Amino acid sequence: MNGPASMIVNGKPVTTGGATRLSAYLRDELGLRGTKVGCDAGDCGACTVMIDGETACSCLVAAGQAAGCSVTTVEGLRANGHLSTLQESFLKHGAAQCGICTPGMLVSARALLDRNPRPSRDEVQDALGGVLCRCTGYAKIIDAVMDAANAAPAVVNLPGRVGDRIRHVDGPPKVTGETVYGADSMPEDAVLVRVVRSPHHHARFSIGDKQAFLARHPGLLAVFDASDVPGRNCHGVIAPFADQPVFAEGVARFKGEAVAAVAGERKAVLALDMGEFPIDWTVLEHALLPDEALAPGAARLHEKREGNVLVRGLVKRGDADAGIANSDHQVSGRFTTPFIEHAYIEPEAGYARPAGNGIEIVGCTQTAYMNRDELASITGLDADAVRVIPSACGGGFGSKLDLSWQPYVTIAALALNRPAAIVYSRTESMQSTTKRHPSCIDATVACDSSGRITGMVFDATFNTGAYASWGPTVANRVPVHASGPYFIENYRADSSAVHTHCAPSGAFRGFGVPQSAVAQECLFDELADKAGIDRLQFRLLNALDNGQPTVTGQAFDSGVGIRQCLQALEPHWLEARRSAAEFNDKARASGSPLRRGAGIGTCWYGCGNTSLPNPSTIRIGVRADGSVVLHQGAIDIGQGSSTVIAQIVAQVLGMEISDIQFVGADTALTPDGGKTSASRQTFVSGKAAKKSAEALRAEVLRHANVSGDARISFEAGRIAVTDAVTVSHVELAGLEANEHGYVFMAQETYDPPVKPLDKDGQGHPYALYGYGAQLAELTVDTGLGTVKLDRITAAHDVGKAINPMLVEGQIEGGIAQGIGLALMEEFLPGRTENLHDYLIPTFGDVPPIESIIIEVPDAEGPFGAKGLGEHVLIPTAPAILNAIRDATGARVRELPATPHKVLAAIREAESNG
Ligand code: FES
Repeated sequence: MNGPASMIVNGKPVTTGGATRLSAYLRDELGLRGTKVGCDAGDCGACTVMIDGETACSCLVAAGQAAGCSVTTVEGLRANGHLSTLQESFLKHGAAQCGICTPGMLVSARALLDRNPRPSRDEVQDALGGVLCRCTGYAKIIDAVMDAANAAPAVVNLPGRVGDRIRHVDGPPKVTGETVYGADSMPEDAVLVRVVRSPHHHARFSIGDKQAFLARHPGLLAVFDASDVPGRNCHGVIAPFADQPVFAEGVARFKGEAVAAVAGERKAVLALDMGEFPIDWTVLEHALLPDEALAPGAARLHEKREGNVLVRGLVKRGDADAGIANSDHQVSGRFTTPFIEHAYIEPEAGYARPAGNGIEIVGCTQTAYMNRDELASITGLDADAVRVIPSACGGGFGSKLDLSWQPYVTIAALALNRPAAIVYSRTESMQSTTKRHPSCIDATVACDSSGRITGMVFDATFNTGAYASWGPTVANRVPVHASGPYFIENYRADSSAVHTHCAPSGAFRGFGVPQSAVAQECLFDELADKAGIDRLQFRLLNALDNGQPTVTGQAFDSGVGIRQCLQALEPHWLEARRSAAEFNDKARASGSPLRRGAGIGTCWYGCGNTSLPNPSTIRIGVRADGSVVLHQGAIDIGQGSSTVIAQIVAQVLGMEISDIQFVGADTALTPDGGKTSASRQTFVSGKAAKKSAEALRAEVLRHANVSGDARISFEAGRIAVTDAVTVSHVELAGLEANEHGYVFMAQETYDPPVKPLDKDGQGHPYALYGYGAQLAELTVDTGLGTVKLDRITAAHDVGKAINPMLVEGQIEGGIAQGIGLALMEEFLPGRTENLHDYLIPTFGDVPPIESIIIEVPDAEGPFGAKGLGEHVLIPTAPAILNAIRDATGARVRELPATPHKVLAAIREAESNG
């Protein structure tokens, strides 16, 4: 049906123009932007709506097809103007992290509960199975739906201090669809920008007659290429390595690289056939693998990078070769991992608009100030003239640290003196943005007859793609971490990042450490077996303790928590081994091909930058009316930093979190909270928040001339100060406000104490580490090679759980990503550029997860807290690989462990006897 049609949307009659996608109609014509578009292909389910009570991906339905139907979107889920029980339950359980999938989840859950008010967990899982979530690991979503079905009472209100299990402070608009993401607030008069990208991995190109092209396409206003970049046609997250052009200049180095952009009226740009763009390509030889790029005679991607090596990393301590030579047992192995796509459900989107003599950029990002400084360089403007206002971020996991969409709209808005907007397609997002580094790792580990490790050598080659991005960080971080959280006196770890004609590899939750842990943890299992020692006891025997030097020679007086994590797993491990043995005995007796196994993986992870400055600054002000305002620029991409930082402030100031007013990240309004990466926000920004709150409190007490032990409470127009004997009041009306409008204000910075690494990688790279250990239990079908995860138990040392619910959410979400790394995910440039060819875990792929929170306080962290975000996926893949080996005797060394690789490994193990 192509003509106008009538339908009911959220109870109101509307008329639509037929052929438009229902998702676009709802968003663009009705302004119902709670319906999110993640793929426009029916793969992610973010745009799920109800049509006459049945769920459907609204991107696959023409608006006219819903003629005569009743359509319900997330905006229609409130009950009598209030949050419904279901929405409340999502908040209570922390089921919405970044929130971009939440509308689709809620609508699907509503449809289920309408037809089946008391569903089982399996029925919830099935009903919501068409909606992907990259953040939560799904467990809390199922819990929320089950709880709503059982009409469980609302959560008890807690003050929101440190340790309280409170809901996300930014949660309510996520369950109503009101949270504004990158694509949700485009100015009406914005031109639309589309990027022209290379269809080749490596090609020379020349752009034809731009004016003639524009003349042939009414409504198009401009074409931009490298010659139109007003400042430096180059960006990069690590300044000394910056090498990525905004627009390639004559040669494209990866498939999907930007070579030009068109801007114009929205309809004209949407109607444009990009194949008409005047450009000639000459395809050149490409190298997609490091071996090809390192081969003698391979063309250099960058003139000054000899042999296509971007950077090398090294950590060396003792004599690793002698430690291995003098050992009783040795194991060696090569392990490989592929490109992994971040697959956040929100594709990159945002807009820029001229503002005075400068520019404002609004959209999704993980780092406002870094974006600002890079965009200032690209535009040639002063940093002060560039204002970055992050929207909500529908998942990032590292990739949204790098510039992507921002330069194109910025250049267009400045050139046309109009707002300019962009929304990446799913394919464009997957083709052009950063990935997890593929790795090829060779390692040897040795121990003495008692099982003590005597030496380890490790050599990793990472495919860093066409441009530097975070390649230097990965190459430097990995050698520091490749030992795992163990005491190893003789150690040498080398790494190199090699350029290829692939999309840049960058930051992805763990910065290379998940890859290195696969090799280290798998070899530890094999070495324990050789030494005849239980695999968990082997780890306990070698676990790092307080006072022992790490492989960089750094010793911590307190806070090393790996032993406690392993001890917490011990009873679970023993029971898992016992029940697996029992199961396998029965399976053998009955001729069943199923085999059960259990495996352990561990992690440690240094929070913050490696040996580099890493500051965060937080401002807190008190207005004359007594209100407390927290300016925190640490971008919350769903992990909950806004909540955690506010809990820290509430704790220090002795107030309820609900009484704090928030000013979120904005380079004009918040000081620099640093980037959201490297598990640094709870630790670094949290510490800055604690310092700020303490300074504010001290200032008030000084003004009141009372002792430091007094309690303060903020009241209308005054602050009550209570010490041991008296209550006094600081009246605020008479105080002079500063330039920010505050009568009291504190702004403090925290920068973790680190020391540079020397030429052997010795030094103090991080102020603290977090630790973890996970146990995977699974069943392998030895006839098919399929792996069914039965259960994962995860013990993570967070120092202090500022909010235990958010800790669990991070653990569950990280494990889901670790499952993807272990069993299914593989990005192949040019081949898996959408979410039906690139598979990420769905509801059915994530088993029950038990989180065990360990609190070994760190002297440096706020209230003892350590970071957690990256840590949680590191142990998962090795734990799964070790469990597969435990079940079958087969070692899979090449990820992902898809059924055909598992089967091949089983056959190999059988043939080796
Ligand atoms: Fe589900 Fe982020 S909360 S994708």
